[in-house]
Amino acid sequence: MKHLFAVKSLDQIKKDSEAGGQQLKRTLGPVQLTALGIGAIMGAGIFSTIGSAAAGGSAHVGAGPAIIASFILTAIACGFAALCYAEFAAMVPISGSAYTYAYATLGEGVAWIIGWDLILEYAVGNVAVAISWSGYFRELLAGVGIVIPGWLSIDYPTAAKAAAEVAQLQAQGGDVAGLGIAVTRAAEAFATAPHLAGIPVILNLPAFLIVMAITWVLVVGIRESAWLTGALAAMNVAILIFFCVVGAFYVEPSNWVPFAPNGFKGISSAAAIIFFAYIGFDAVSTAAEETKNPQRDMPIAMIASLAICTVIYIAVAMVLTGMLPWTQLGTAEPLATAFSANNITWASGIIAFGAVCATSGVLLVFQLGQPRIFFSMARDGLLPAWASKVHPKYRTPHVTTILTGVVVAICATFLNINEVVELTNIGTLFAFVLVSIGILLLRRSDPDRPRPFRTPLVPWVPLIAIVMCGYLMIQLPWITWIRFVLWLGVGLLVYLVYGMRHSILQKRLAGRL
Ligand code: ALA
Repeated sequence: MKHLFAVKSLDQIKKDSEAGGQQLKRTLGPVQLTALGIGAIMGAGIFSTIGSAAAGGSAHVGAGPAIIASFILTAIACGFAALCYAEFAAMVPISGSAYTYAYATLGEGVAWIIGWDLILEYAVGNVAVAISWSGYFRELLAGVGIVIPGWLSIDYPTAAKAAAEVAQLQAQGGDVAGLGIAVTRAAEAFATAPHLAGIPVILNLPAFLIVMAITWVLVVGIRESAWLTGALAAMNVAILIFFCVVGAFYVEPSNWVPFAPNGFKGISSAAAIIFFAYIGFDAVSTAAEETKNPQRDMPIAMIASLAICTVIYIAVAMVLTGMLPWTQLGTAEPLATAFSANNITWASGIIAFGAVCATSGVLLVFQLGQPRIFFSMARDGLLPAWASKVHPKYRTPHVTTILTGVVVAICATFLNINEVVELTNIGTLFAFVLVSIGILLLRRSDPDRPRPFRTPLVPWVPLIAIVMCGYLMIQLPWITWIRFVLWLGVGLLVYLVYGMRHSILQKRLAGRL
């Protein structure tokens, strides 16, 4: 039991990161970091998830125009959590994010669980983003007359479910058109798929290919990828401002009435879904070891990127819900839908292009973050040593980058986006809760440690972050909770079987090192 709560001192953490030549290259400044944050935050959430959060889905009721309130609620929760992340990121400017912070405060067992949990945020989150990327990419190509066959750009479960729905409705003599364009398209993909040994061949090939391409960029080096992320972040902001400016001319104020058709229930359940649109500001902290002046730049970048995105999201939500009745927003590409429904088709293509850029940026930052968490865990002996290898020429953690890339690419080829989003949200909210608890504990156990950035109003700010993130977790469907608990259970098992026995900290404590 004492193993589970063994704490690695912050001084030891810093020393280990500097030892053994396993360091990453320090190249990033505050502007690049903020761009990294914006690149990580704006993506599938604002371009896709906003639609189902506003209109509702199979497992939750929609917020309607009050999605604006959901955005504000989630931004406040994230803002409080960001203030906690910033204190840690400035104090422990080491690759590994919440995993490293937990190791210093809550003990090795909790650190392992967070590291394992962060796979849900980074790798599983990227599965969702890659699927969204593929959808918009297909739209973009269709706009210039290139058609990717349906069976090559969808996952099997979605196609099979849609085909069953259509067959059932046809058997009852119902009108298939009533099922909506997404379902009829998926059913058509199922019907037209070629067969191999009697099995229909259905896979999301663009999702697979984009993840592999991003993986290559990241193996080659962070300088290139940070430049690319900066360009993509600027593009995201420009496209969303374009949406607001053009869309504002088509706002019909009567669409904002009633403002909250499903009351606070709608607002809060949409907040738990739209949380996906905010995930990413914390990804900035995973680049701490590659930052020139982390003490100053980490807090600035996290809070600045969150603030910029919040302002733009609220503007987008106002315009979007003003352009169309909220019940019609539940498509996979609601921003494009709002334009085409108002007969501004030329603008839909621009939005599809913007969405492709935005989701590429998210993929890049998350693919950057996950290997660095594995890298930190391997450096501590909780994962095998080969995972902490740094490429001799590019100085990037190439083994974990390639491994993460291959697994994410394969999952994105075969999984359904909605379930992946919910799992990512619950995992990330849990990490936020643990980081906030960590701030409270470290202020007690190590009050005199120099803190280049101090979370204001402790204990209130961390406490509010804990309560708000916990509240959002409760809003998620029970099936997501079951998957989450199972995931953590598997993680605990891996720790007991491997990590605990190979932990460098345990060996040191036992005098074996
Ligand atoms: N916040 C990221 C997105 O919206 C995960 O795609």
